[in-house]
Amino acid sequence: MNIMVAKTAGFCFGVARAVNFAYDMVQSQKTPGTIIGLGELIHNGHVIKELEDKGMVFKEHVSDIGYASQVIIRAHGVGPSIIEGLSKRQCEIFDYTCPYVKKIHQIVSKKYKEGCQIVIIGNKNHPEVIGINGWCENTAIVLDDVDENILSKIGEKCIHLVAQTTFNKKKFYEIVNFIKKNCKMVAISDTICNATVKRQEETFALSQICDIMIVIGGRKSSNTVKLYEICMENCKEVYLIENFEDLPQNINFKKKIGITAGASTPSCIIEEVICKMEEKEMTSVAQNSDNEEMSFAEAFEQSLKTLNTGDVVKGTVAEVRPNEVIVDLGFKSDGIIPLSELTDDPDMTPEKLVKVGDEIEVFVVGVNDAEGKTLLSRKKLEAIAGWKTITEAYDKGEILTGKVIQVVNGGMIVSTTGTRVFVPISQANDRYTQDLTPFMGKEVTYKILEINEKRRKVVGSVKAVLQEQNKILEDKFWGEAEAGKKYSGVVKSLTPFGAFIDLGGVDGLLHISEISWSRIKHPSDVLSVGQLLEVYIKDLNVETKKISLGFKKIEDNPWAIAQNKFNEGDVVSVKVVRMLPFGAFAELLPSVDGLIHISQISNKRIAQPSDCLEIGQVVDAQITALDWENKKISLSIRALLPKEEAPAPAAASQEKTQEELADTSYTEEMNVTIGDAIKIDTDEN
Ligand code: F3S
Repeated sequence: MNIMVAKTAGFCFGVARAVNFAYDMVQSQKTPGTIIGLGELIHNGHVIKELEDKGMVFKEHVSDIGYASQVIIRAHGVGPSIIEGLSKRQCEIFDYTCPYVKKIHQIVSKKYKEGCQIVIIGNKNHPEVIGINGWCENTAIVLDDVDENILSKIGEKCIHLVAQTTFNKKKFYEIVNFIKKNCKMVAISDTICNATVKRQEETFALSQICDIMIVIGGRKSSNTVKLYEICMENCKEVYLIENFEDLPQNINFKKKIGITAGASTPSCIIEEVICKMEEKEMTSVAQNSDNEEMSFAEAFEQSLKTLNTGDVVKGTVAEVRPNEVIVDLGFKSDGIIPLSELTDDPDMTPEKLVKVGDEIEVFVVGVNDAEGKTLLSRKKLEAIAGWKTITEAYDKGEILTGKVIQVVNGGMIVSTTGTRVFVPISQANDRYTQDLTPFMGKEVTYKILEINEKRRKVVGSVKAVLQEQNKILEDKFWGEAEAGKKYSGVVKSLTPFGAFIDLGGVDGLLHISEISWSRIKHPSDVLSVGQLLEVYIKDLNVETKKISLGFKKIEDNPWAIAQNKFNEGDVVSVKVVRMLPFGAFAELLPSVDGLIHISQISNKRIAQPSDCLEIGQVVDAQITALDWENKKISLSIRALLPKEEAPAPAAASQEKTQEELADTSYTEEMNVTIGDAIKIDTDEN
């Protein structure tokens, strides 16, 4: 028997990545049923059954998934509404969308926002296409063949074309050419995955030289079906099988047989097919490259496996690309570290971390990559070391430092030496914090609250560290606090009755009356949250832990300043600030007003102050009397007027009566508080 096995048969790197992760997860889960796959992880019944047997559950819809579940997103990817739906359910999301599919999401989202009509060339019912369509709000035109009818739908719009990653390249360009011929503004992103192209090309070549082609893979797998279609173009006898049992009994093993497999076919199934054929007295395998004879299993093994998943190996950095690092492992194939497996730090790029020629230790995540690369991870290695650090810190109750790398519903993810630590929102700060986005990218210190070894889940608390630090500060404060002691505080919050000032672990109240010498309606008139303030303790109660603070300084008292500045007889420029029937109040200094009695406004008889003055007017007046104790200042404009214009005696006598009346009012007014608004009943006066 002459069998030729396609080198590209089996898992592609995107599928290997998701499947390996799922196996890791189910193996470490404590309670079966807690790991949920959103949709079948791959189109392969064997793998799905094995994962289900290990306790993984597959759900088709977000609404079927319980709150706070751990959900794996498969390589096909999903639209943004699905992520949103899972986040609303507070699920922990493990997004294993293939990076190549992610790239399509980015293109579609960008071009859609720029106003393009998105056209997806692919199968409209395929989950990958449904996911891609989600990134343009499901407005894409999806077609899998030349279709005249779509021209009317497109109209004059600019079009951006993308392809399902596993779409047939030849068909894709048939459709592209048709659209280009009929539409004006067409941009094309050929998003067919290279692994798919290579697989299809090799299958095409193999099917040209073989009598029988066996395509191994799921019947629901789009890329497997495409391989079948390609084989049918060249070969009369083609079988699409999911496993050996599907292979017809009457197959003529004497013919030249080619074997290929879809991207979601595990190597164990390919191997099983070959071995079972071997058991049917097949004795030799001809490799498609050199016809060298060897056992089928060996041939397959050699064509696929050079390294094992889980190996830790050393290699040399051969190339540094913007999103990945290529590592020469000294094996048949190079290794690839995608950026996502290099670091969790969103600010880092491969160039910042490694350079060509660096020796690097890596963890093998997956072999048998269809692109001839082996998937590697630095993060996994760091995570192994990080886990040790985390468990030791937990045992010893030590404080750890990490960087916030993700804000998720219900909390944030902090990365410490490659280990992801979940900090719930209630533990993210020492006071209620609704929005954690300001923490993104920041370093935080935290303590481990809980470790789940099996599920590799770690819960941390920033709050615990802050509370410990506050307790130390609080104890220190109360040990040293005394009335009169000065502090530099920070305004923490403002209320109608005053401001709370953080004195360093302890808050004190600065009453509104202590904030300013002037009258204020609300502390926010002069203070703002976060402002630094020099305060002193007016009073404190160690029992109730209450602190009253003072802020106003005696030397700032405007009446004290006025006392030093003004003397009787001084001529001052003053501003009229209020008028009452018996006179006008004029401001000498902020918060220091004097009274210009109605009789002292003019040397003529006037009915009311507004006959000569208006609010805001600046006038010269002489200080005629000072009573610092009662905070009274008497002013006179009249004293500065020429003497010959003095009023006649008769008028003066009448005026005295009015003056006496006004003096009474003035005294009453001043007994209230200078500056208070007073309601005067003008009819009575
Ligand atoms: Fe990704 Fe290509 Fe596989 S797009 S999932 S590597 S076929």
